[in-house]
Amino acid sequence: ARSGYEHYMMKEMMEQPQVAEQLIGGHLDERHGTTRLPDLNLSPRELRSFRRVKILGCGSAYYVGQMGAQMIAEIARIPADAEAASEFRYRAPLIEADTLYIVVSQSGETADTAFAVEEIKRKGGYVVGVINAVGSTIARAVDGRVYIHAGAEVAVASTKALTNMAIVFAMIAVEMGRVHDLSLIDGRRLVAGIAALPGKITQIIENRDLLDPLALTLSQASSIYYIGRVRGYPVASEGAQKMKEISYIHAESYQTSELKHGPLALVSPEMPTVAFIPDDELTDRNIAAAEQIMARQGPLVAFTHAGVDLSGLDAQTYVVPKSEPELDPILLTIPMQLLAYKVAVLLGHDVDKPRNLAKSVTVE
Ligand code: BG6
Repeated sequence: ARSGYEHYMMKEMMEQPQVAEQLIGGHLDERHGTTRLPDLNLSPRELRSFRRVKILGCGSAYYVGQMGAQMIAEIARIPADAEAASEFRYRAPLIEADTLYIVVSQSGETADTAFAVEEIKRKGGYVVGVINAVGSTIARAVDGRVYIHAGAEVAVASTKALTNMAIVFAMIAVEMGRVHDLSLIDGRRLVAGIAALPGKITQIIENRDLLDPLALTLSQASSIYYIGRVRGYPVASEGAQKMKEISYIHAESYQTSELKHGPLALVSPEMPTVAFIPDDELTDRNIAAAEQIMARQGPLVAFTHAGVDLSGLDAQTYVVPKSEPELDPILLTIPMQLLAYKVAVLLGHDVDKPRNLAKSVTVE
């Protein structure tokens, strides 16, 4: 069942270009610069009527939700945020008729997420699901659903499902954008960007050995910072989560902008930092923060794009294929999976079945 791979996690990472391609097929309308997700069960007029988007999920699904919120806010210009479903259900949330609720779940069986759906529905909210498991509890409970079609995922650490969830959020953002103020030209630019993702994912996977020296550095650490900002921050959080889950190395994410407000105190030669320095409006700010780390002899592992000049930094660098700026987080997340995998293998851990964790948590 592992098709010749040593672990399910590797098999599932390798499947990403193919499942991404399958997901995207049929949803893109290049001519009108939009996407179409009929299973959301929303007419253009209804889709336009929402004034806010609230995304809920647990674990990695929550971090993908944060990526999705940023894409929706940026592309559709609608206020959007993500919250851990496990917290939402207990904090007496206000359910509003003009908010589109989106729950994210690979298994469709996570109890915390399922309960959030019940709470929203009880109070009259409209909730759609971004789900892998067809016919699952959450898929049956929601008002509309987009299946991510990632196929069975066995490894506890989610990879291909996360990537397809992130792509669904990009498609939701474009569809919402095009019933609001997103222009035809920008819509076409993003649709072309989405269409190009599977090829770029293939490049990352084929060149995965470039991550070996970075994995070696991190495998020797007992604690790692992951820093990114705005689009890069959810990527940092997901990267740290993956590293913790399968390598058992303590890893923590911060917004790069927050570094000087606390975390910098721990930077030392023993404390490496994984820094996201994408080619965007904040490149210079991110380089300046990395210099702060270097000044404290903190080892740096940088994820960046071609054309960003990091020659002033003493960093081990990995260049990620460039996408449209709004879609960059989708591609930045893939090397995080490969990196955590490589570190876990170097340390000899059971990659597919990490201690203390279950693939889906169906109890409270
Ligand atoms: C956790 C799993 O318990 O549940 C994570 O260990 C997963 O890997 C999270 O991201 C949410 O699961 P699901 O099925 O709701 O996406």
